[in-house]
Amino acid sequence: MDYSKLKIPNHVALIVDGNGRWATEKGMSRSDGHKQGFLNLKKLTAYIFSKKIKYISAYLFSTENFKRSEKEVSFIMNLLTNQLKDILNFCHENKIKAVFSGRKENLSDKVLKAIKKIEDETAIYQEKIFNICFNYGGHTEIIDATKKIVKDVTEKKLDINSLDEEIFNKYLYQNLPEVDLMIRTSGEQRLSNFMLWQNSYAEFYFPKTYFPDFDEKEFDKAILEYTKRDRRFGGIDYEKKSH
Ligand code: IPE
Ligand code: IPE
Ligand code: MG
Repeated sequence: MDYSKLKIPNHVALIVDGNGRWATEKGMSRSDGHKQGFLNLKKLTAYIFSKKIKYISAYLFSTENFKRSEKEVSFIMNLLTNQLKDILNFCHENKIKAVFSGRKENLSDKVLKAIKKIEDETAIYQEKIFNICFNYGGHTEIIDATKKIVKDVTEKKLDINSLDEEIFNKYLYQNLPEVDLMIRTSGEQRLSNFMLWQNSYAEFYFPKTYFPDFDEKEFDKAILEYTKRDRRFGGIDYEKKSH
């Protein structure tokens, strides 16, 4: 689809959901679903970035997902490390800077090493930012930011009276612009603790499609829906006002 005449979002957030159901309905294992979801994520992000959208945040593992079986958790953890080379190639080919948001605690050294390598090697790119939310929780992000703020105030590095939204944003895991379009696949209509601060004025889109099937055409549909939304941010569009 031609995006050149459309009003496109600057920051797209994706809640990658439905991998398990996609696989189960096909008689496959949940792990197969995660693998397929991961493959789709690469294809989809390359497509989104090709449309001049600058920021993508993808929710891949929540702080709550540790409640799942050991087998499933370790499969997801290993996906990242086993695909390290492939992820790096993908980032280099598409000139993508990958950053990670989430708590480092509870992640193994192997996973942390993979994360560091991806971040270090892709830090040279500036135009396309891929924010990978892994062991991420919106509550923990706000708590972690608050702790850093209190520390800086105590050490007199920050004047409490100067704290505003712009400064607060700098204390989050990444200093990114607000989310414009938030897509959650699989039909669930909730945030599940995803980017609570950044989604404050996002437009939400909830397709029924499971993530492994959420392809370029599905994304085009999301964009067309987004272009129809009237984003008022609390104000009034005077041109549209009847009197
Ligand atoms: C999303 O798919 C991936 C993670 C949350 C890790 P799910 O694994 O949640 O898939 P469903 O929702 O069970 O189908
Ligand atoms: C949210 O999906 C987390 C990720 C997609 C990483 P879940 O499948 O874990 O969320 P719930 O349990 O349906 O709320
Ligand atoms: Mg789910």
